[in-house]
Amino acid sequence: MDSSPFKAGILSGMVAVITGGGSGIGFEISTQLGLHGASIAVMGRRKSVLDSAVISLQESGIHAIGIEGDVRKNEDAASVLQITFEKFGRIDVLVNSAAGNFLASPEDLSPNAFKTVMDIDTLGTYTMSHAALNYLKKGGLGKQGNGGGLILNISATLHYTATWYQLHVSSAKAAIDSMTRSLALEWGADYDIRVNGIAPGPIAGTTGMSKLAPDEMIGTRLRKETQPLFKIGEKWDIAMAAVYLASNAGKFVNGMIMIVDGGLWLSSPRF
Ligand code: HXC
Repeated sequence: MDSSPFKAGILSGMVAVITGGGSGIGFEISTQLGLHGASIAVMGRRKSVLDSAVISLQESGIHAIGIEGDVRKNEDAASVLQITFEKFGRIDVLVNSAAGNFLASPEDLSPNAFKTVMDIDTLGTYTMSHAALNYLKKGGLGKQGNGGGLILNISATLHYTATWYQLHVSSAKAAIDSMTRSLALEWGADYDIRVNGIAPGPIAGTTGMSKLAPDEMIGTRLRKETQPLFKIGEKWDIAMAAVYLASNAGKFVNGMIMIVDGGLWLSSPRF
C-alpha cells in the first residue's frame, strides 16, 4: 500500500461517522480519515468487528469510538449520532458505507431479499443522512458558525450497465446515486452541506469481492497483474478519494459521484 500524498493534519478538528466502518472499504476510510486528523465514530452491527476496528484505530493514534447500530433502524441512527456528538462535540462528515450483498438471479431473489438490500443500502443511507442533518448543516449542533459538513455515499458501478445476479444491489446503488444528487442540490443550497459519492470498482480484500468475484471467476476482462489500470483496486484507492473529498481541497465539489475503478466500467473485452 502506498503512503498518503496528503498532509497528516488536513482533517484536524473534524469528526466523522462511518457506517459499516468496522470492515472492508469502510474500515480503510475510517483509518485514513483518522490518520489525517479526524476523530472517528464507527457504526456497525457486529460488536466483535467494531471492537477490533476501534483497537486498531486507537493503536494508530486515532481518536475513535465504536457504536453498535443498524442503519435500518431510526432509533439506532439517532443514538449513534447523539453519542458521537456527546463524545466529540460536533459532526462534520457522514460516510454511508454500510451495505449488504449476495449473488442471486431474479428468479431466486424473493421480494423480501430485494427489500432487505434496499433497506440496508438505500433506506439506510437516507435514514442516516436525515438523522445527521441537524449536526451537519451550517450553524448546526456544535458548528459554531463554521460551514456545513459532508455526506459521502459509497455506491458502485454495477448499475451503469447491467450486472448479472445483481438486480437488487444495482437498484439500490442507482437510487443512492440519485439521492446523492438530490441532496447535493437541496442541502447544498439550504444548509451548505456537500453530498458526494464514490463508486468503487472491484477492490481487493473486501467482502464484496469475495462474494461477487472469487479468484476463479475473474476472467480476461479483469487482469490482476498484466494491465496497469484494468485490474483490482485497493481499499486505499477509495480511502484517498474520501480524504480528498473531506478536505478543503474538495470544498467546491458537490453532487459528484467519483468513479474509482481504473476505468473498468467502461471497458469491453479486447478483440
Ligand atoms: C438469495 C438471500 C440470500 C442469498 C439472504 N437472502 N441471502 N436470497 N440469496 N444469498 C434473502 C433471505 O432468504 C431473506 O428473504 C432476505 O434475503 C433477508 O435475509 P436475512 O438473512 O434475514 O437478512 P439479514 O440478516 O438482514 O442479512 C442481510 C444480508 C447479509 C444482505 C442478506 O448478507 C449481510 O448483511 N451481509 C453482510 C454485509 C455484506 O454483504 N457486505 C458486502 C457488501 S458488498 P426471504 O424471502 O427468504 O425472507 C457491496 C459491493 C457492491 O455492497 C459493489 C461491488 C462491485
